[in-house]
Amino acid sequence: MITVENLHKHFGGFHAVDGASLSVREGSITGLIGPNGAGKTTLFNVIAGVLPPTSGRVTMQGEDITGLPPHALFHKGLLRTFQIAHEFASMTCRENLMMVPGGQSGETLWNTWFGRKRIAEEERALRAKADEVLEFLTITHLADQRAGEISGGQKKLLELGRTMMVDARIVFLDEVGAGVNRTLLNTIAEAILNLNRERGYTFVVIEHDMDFIGRICDPVICMAEGRVLAEGTLDEIKANEQVIEAYLGTGLKNKDMVGT
Ligand SMILES: Nc1ncnc2c1ncn2[C@@H]1O[C@H](COP(=O)(O)OP(=O)(O)O)[C@@H](O)[C@H]1O
Ligand SMILES: [Mg+2]
Repeated sequence: MITVENLHKHFGGFHAVDGASLSVREGSITGLIGPNGAGKTTLFNVIAGVLPPTSGRVTMQGEDITGLPPHALFHKGLLRTFQIAHEFASMTCRENLMMVPGGQSGETLWNTWFGRKRIAEEERALRAKADEVLEFLTITHLADQRAGEISGGQKKLLELGRTMMVDARIVFLDEVGAGVNRTLLNTIAEAILNLNRERGYTFVVIEHDMDFIGRICDPVICMAEGRVLAEGTLDEIKANEQVIEAYLGTGLKNKDMVGT
């Protein structure tokens, strides 16, 4: 579904992504792991159009999408989750979801004057959809709470929920599990698996929690120093000499990875 060919992203003389090549199979939940500083987030940002690449190519189903801006990719169904923006913190969770789809009739003056009935209908439909998403994510009880007041893990679920308000095809998740407790992490894993099975979403997931990766991801791609080191099942990756080297090289921070 996505191919990345010899991608480079340099910040001054620093090569954050240094010739990365990989592909993401349609319908997969692909894991992206690697020690801190490997270039994972930068790679995501380049694919999702947040940062322009220094060189290289990204294609989506054969179409060159290199350097397309996020809104253009959004319309193609390629989404990267973002933290709930500051200005949305005072809105409720339901309102945060209802904000997502663009092109609502209510946005033009013409419609404000002549389309009141239609706007009301659309808003009802949007509200129903938001409630469906909240239920799917098991956070119906948070519908009327302000997004700024829910826990970190609940925010992650809400961010995932935002991708469900549109017809996403491939979703990039960066450290969904960071700071999230076990129970919520399970809920997030379930939601990802369900979206994959029931709605055909393809996912690329960056996460440090190897239990989480092992449970939902196949294949797993390991990056280090801006390049792809290995791809395979998590067990294959864990047994890969170069991968072990890369993790050990970063000290004890990632010791879980090599099972010490
Ligand atoms: N905007 C930037 N300017 C300069 N260096 C950056 C920038 N963004 C990331 N880096 C550097 O690029 C490297 C890769 O970062 P990142 O993509 O965040 O890695 P990862 O997500 O794998 O931990 C890091 O050394 C980081 O400091
Ligand atoms: Mg990162």
